[in-house]
Amino acid sequence: MSLETLIADYQAKTPRSRALFEEAQRVLPGGNTRTTVFIDPYPFYAVRGAGPRIWDADGHERLDFNGNYTSLILGHAPPAVVEVVRELAERGLSFPGPSEHEVRLAEVLTRRVPSCERVRFTNSGTEATMLAVRGARAYTGRPKIAKFEGSYHGTHDWVQVSITPPVEGAGSRRRPKPVPAGAGVPPAVLKNVLVLPWNQPEACLARIDRHARELAAVLCEPVQGAAGVIPPVDGFLPALREVTSRHGIVLVFDEVITFRLSPGGAQTLYGVAPDLTTFGKIIGGGLAVGAFGGRAEVMGVFDPRGGKPKVAQGGTFNANPLTMAAGIRTLEALTPEAYAHLDRLGNSLREKVRKLFRARGVRAQVTGVGSLFCLHWTPRRPVIDFRSSRPVDPEQPLRTYVGLLNEGILLSQRGMGAVSVPMGDAEVDRFVEALGQVLDAEARR
Ligand SMILES: Cc1ncc(COP(=O)(O)O)c(C=O)c1O
Repeated sequence: MSLETLIADYQAKTPRSRALFEEAQRVLPGGNTRTTVFIDPYPFYAVRGAGPRIWDADGHERLDFNGNYTSLILGHAPPAVVEVVRELAERGLSFPGPSEHEVRLAEVLTRRVPSCERVRFTNSGTEATMLAVRGARAYTGRPKIAKFEGSYHGTHDWVQVSITPPVEGAGSRRRPKPVPAGAGVPPAVLKNVLVLPWNQPEACLARIDRHARELAAVLCEPVQGAAGVIPPVDGFLPALREVTSRHGIVLVFDEVITFRLSPGGAQTLYGVAPDLTTFGKIIGGGLAVGAFGGRAEVMGVFDPRGGKPKVAQGGTFNANPLTMAAGIRTLEALTPEAYAHLDRLGNSLREKVRKLFRARGVRAQVTGVGSLFCLHWTPRRPVIDFRSSRPVDPEQPLRTYVGLLNEGILLSQRGMGAVSVPMGDAEVDRFVEALGQVLDAEARR
């Protein structure tokens, strides 16, 4: 089925969303306030979620494998989380002072993630990565940071570099050039961001060695997330740990997505401890959140005792009690059994999708770890980085997204998805069945 036909089907089903989008265009630029969720001609408007399901403004029910971009690990509106939010909301929504809840959530995080001796809270993953790199610059006194091609770390200037660069003009695979993700990224930032090739240990270490004296931080996701859920090759993370330690560079693991992979995040899964870690998504139980933490000595730059801190970090809603309590309830529900369930479901989904692709002779792959997965519309050579994950037909991810929407499944536009605790085999089977229907429609194009 062509994209036009799929969109026509979607439009026929979603008149209320279209009407809301028309109103939105009068007050929001392009009707939009979150680029990620926009699709042409308009996104669906959500009205309700419960467990693994989400409903739109036109009353359509869908199975939600997007989970607010991997945040909703317990599904929508888990009763234990809703209960504590409701209870606390009646006692005040936010305060001009700390609350016990922030101490408790910080305790949970430092217990689960041994490399985090101290933690600070923010309201988004963007702020977390922004403050982690500022902290690293303050701690080392060096100006530059390094990040990987394809990696997304939020919307501040320092990380709006080489996210999905057009490969022409982005340098060679082993020596990528910094490419601004959009207009408005200052040239000074581009001069101070070194772009590294994911999963190319030799080239990567050579670049770090060469720029070491100026590098404050190497920032990476231990499993590349938005770039396509691409795990590190064997030995890659230990090599990054070794080279950064040798040069006194702060190694920052961005675990905004990957913290969901085990009780201690991807760093415990792969056995590599960074100096700093950033968090977001699941640790707020569905509310706006971010956090960063790490070695007490590095985090000491934020310590306000004894006069001015080296780095000040305000934030009107930092560590607000509702978010902190929702995060605690969520992490309490993530028992070893819950992780085992998520891993089993994730493995089963990937296996069944692989079988489907093989049976249909489709040139596509599925990558992933634990509860995270991503569909790739590429030939069968391994997906190891952003460049190898680019679809042969650039329109295919969008056709798949809209096709799945029409079949009652919500994924993300780029093909990344996650299973959540309230899902079971029936939801995985429904996903695979719907994907099969989308592939049938593709075959009829
Ligand atoms: C790895 C990673 N870091 C940082 C962010 C930014 O988080 P937020 O959207 O909360 O600002 C994201 C968002 O998707 C992310 O995936």
